Amino acid sequence: MLRQLLSIGCLFLHAVHALAPEERAQNTHNVTVVGTGYVGLTLGTCLAECGHQVICVDIDEEKIARLEQGIIPIYEPGLSDLVQSNTQEGRLSFSTSLEQAAEKSDTIFIAVGTPTDENGKADLRALFKVVEVLKPFHDRLICIKSTVPVGTCNYVKSQLGSEQIVSNPEYFREGCAVKDFFEGDRIIVGCDSSDGIKVMQELYAPLTDKGMPMLITSLESSEMIKYASNAFLAVKIAYINELSQLCEKVDADVLEVAKGMGCDRRIGKDFLKPGPGYGGSCFPKDTVALLDVAKSNELELQIVDAAVQSNEEHKRKIYERTIQKLPPMHEAQVVTILGLAFKANTDDIRYSSALGLISALQSKGISIKAYDPAAMHHTQAQFPDVVYCQDSYEAAEGADCLVLLTEWEEFLHLDVARLKSTMRTPIVFDTRNVLDEAEYRAHGFSFEGIGRPKH
Ligand code: UDX
Repeated sequence: MLRQLLSIGCLFLHAVHALAPEERAQNTHNVTVVGTGYVGLTLGTCLAECGHQVICVDIDEEKIARLEQGIIPIYEPGLSDLVQSNTQEGRLSFSTSLEQAAEKSDTIFIAVGTPTDENGKADLRALFKVVEVLKPFHDRLICIKSTVPVGTCNYVKSQLGSEQIVSNPEYFREGCAVKDFFEGDRIIVGCDSSDGIKVMQELYAPLTDKGMPMLITSLESSEMIKYASNAFLAVKIAYINELSQLCEKVDADVLEVAKGMGCDRRIGKDFLKPGPGYGGSCFPKDTVALLDVAKSNELELQIVDAAVQSNEEHKRKIYERTIQKLPPMHEAQVVTILGLAFKANTDDIRYSSALGLISALQSKGISIKAYDPAAMHHTQAQFPDVVYCQDSYEAAEGADCLVLLTEWEEFLHLDVARLKSTMRTPIVFDTRNVLDEAEYRAHGFSFEGIGRPKH
């Protein structure tokens, strides 16, 4: 059970089981989960932890071979332990054969990627390929986990000639996906069939028994809730990021402003942290896909559109501010980037602010040294000219400005004196407002956060 886990915030130190045996499902199901990315692997593992018999399927043979050895392809706190314990206890297995897995299952979740194509449309080719293979299995309950434009589930239903379709979007965040699965705010089930709803209720019983609400909707509403939620959160972040810029101009403190706003329950305190611009696998892609759905329906979502543009502009301003901080020099200036992942506790770099910043700085002839506790292997191919370092101190050596982009816990406990002694010019730009400004200033750093009053 969760309370038995030693946890600090989102991070599990030790996560052998999230549920006690008596908390597992009474009515268990045989489940296939197609796709072993962040969503599919977490979902399959957590459903196994709920007591179901789960086969996770992927076309990537190497990935499956490694998973069979208990090696997980992503950095996700707590997941590895759960993969191992559920595999050992015989509830979780892996396969490259969708047909063989489907044969043994009554419920099949599709959790393959739906990236944005060059026109801003969700690319559904991987999903439709899976649906094609599942045609002979149309008597199974097919659940669409992947984020898909409104109307996709109905289309899949017509393709399969089946009533047994569920839209069950995922709401967990990378970096605390296991925690979010077991302690999330809601389960959304879009389904027109009472048999399908019953299976979903049984699958998620260990969560609903503990009070997690399950909302039953139409297929279309469920698909829409996912996009609407992500776009709303993106708007919220873009809003606070814009306010942070204004706060700086008028000498207000965005942290105080966000705290004051958050006290109003209608606004809420979450997702009001200014940063270097939102990234990740969902917000950038889902906002653009939602705009595309609106366009196809001859509508303009001006607020979502503004958030997308505002986020791009905010990222550009982070670059401009970095450039402004650099002291003029005859030789190449050196910038240290701490954090490459789009946020802490993940190795995911998709749409991370680091990517744009590195290319813009490099195109100005600036040398980049970088350190990230988990994500460096993902940026190496894209940016071979970056000097990747073993730790923050090595990354800071000889640098003219240190830009903190990701709020990794370890960056909060750096030895500031050591950092100062190693840099060429002691300038810090903390784009997450997580460092102790007073301490850095006391050590002689020129320090800037985001949206904070100037000293
Ligand atoms: C998001 C949704 O939260 C989740 O419900 C959905 O299923 C998938 O998309 P995720 O992309 O994992 O999850 O990350 P999230 O924690 O939501 O952060 C997204 C981006 O917003 C990150 O770049 C993060 O740094 C940024 N962010 C978040 C802020 O800049 N400020 C905030 O206050 C919150």
